[in-house]
Amino acid sequence: MNILVVGGAGYIGSHMVQMLLENGDEVTIFDNLSTGFKESVTGGNFIEGDLSNTNELNTLFENSQFDCVMHFAAFSQVGESVLHPGLYYKNNFCNTLNLLDSMVKHDVNNIIFSSTAALFGNPEYTPIDEKHPCNPINPYGQSKLMIEQALADYEQAYGIQYISLRYFNAAGASIDGSIGERHTPETHLIPLALQTATGKREHIKVFGSDYDTPDGTCIRDYIHVLDLCEAHYLALQHLIKNGESNIFNLGNKEGYSVLQVIHAAEQVTQRNIPAITTSRRAGDPTTLIADSEKITTLLGWTPKHSSIHTIMEHAWQWEQKLAPSS
Ligand SMILES: NC(=O)c1ccc[n+]([C@@H]2O[C@H](COP(=O)([O-])OP(=O)(O)OC[C@H]3O[C@@H](n4cnc5c(N)ncnc54)[C@H](O)[C@@H]3O)[C@@H](O)[C@H]2O)c1
Repeated sequence: MNILVVGGAGYIGSHMVQMLLENGDEVTIFDNLSTGFKESVTGGNFIEGDLSNTNELNTLFENSQFDCVMHFAAFSQVGESVLHPGLYYKNNFCNTLNLLDSMVKHDVNNIIFSSTAALFGNPEYTPIDEKHPCNPINPYGQSKLMIEQALADYEQAYGIQYISLRYFNAAGASIDGSIGERHTPETHLIPLALQTATGKREHIKVFGSDYDTPDGTCIRDYIHVLDLCEAHYLALQHLIKNGESNIFNLGNKEGYSVLQVIHAAEQVTQRNIPAITTSRRAGDPTTLIADSEKITTLLGWTPKHSSIHTIMEHAWQWEQKLAPSS
């Protein structure tokens, strides 16, 4: 198949590119390298371009007939989205409309979209299934919800078929350690813990220890990046067979507290990871755990790397590789 991976130089997109190439698909990567890295792209046809540039998009779609678009490109820092909402509405929402309009113009009908658990806001119940109300509490989550609405409208108006995958916390790295998580600034717990283990950071901050959880710290559901990519692959096969549009939550239905994650990092790295407890961060829900029964039932997705230790081992292998140059 001929797949366009938008945002394929980023953390999750680069693992998707690697998986598609391993499966023998033809891959074009379109990325402006705003938060991604050219060296994370392990093959395929890389095109440096920006979703805000409709001329670049037209050329992209004129030069190849894609079977499906996988759309990973976005800004995704919750705190930044609160401070600079316009950046998020423009890059995430408006630029996705540019992408969708180009697809319509060039008769490309399938898209798999990277959505997020952030669109649920403060959960009313957990584990969170797809019927849970969407009440985002920050512009990042809101921008993703607006895209889901646009996808439904573009389906109605132009017949675009879509799968929206609402990821919980992506983590881990490729099994061979060739690529892994890399964000600047890094805000995710596992790389922060591991960077403390390598000595890149002096300590890790724990935001709040008075939550209503067994150890007082927030609980999250970590999903291995390769399991996320596997879900994209199943979604791709579903769309190519003219399967219906749908929305799925993606997580392991198992939560780990911040302290449990730091402890797992200490076990895997065999190093002490100093942690400093500070006050709660605004907008952090106590517990976020996914119910992914729907994608298991409808697409046959089963996570292969769900253990937090496996996730941590792969992430550690990558973080050690990154450490000398970072
Ligand atoms: N990492 C997670 O835990 C997580 C959780 C939920 C949802 N998501 C979503 O998954 C997607 C990928 O996340 P990630 O962690 O890999 O992020 P990332 O920042 O590593 O990757 C995003 C990629 O998109 C590119 N990009 C951004 N704006 C662009 C534009 N206008 N034109 C072209 N390229 C552009 C960036 O350069 C980068 O390579 C995002 O949409 C994010 O919102 C991620």
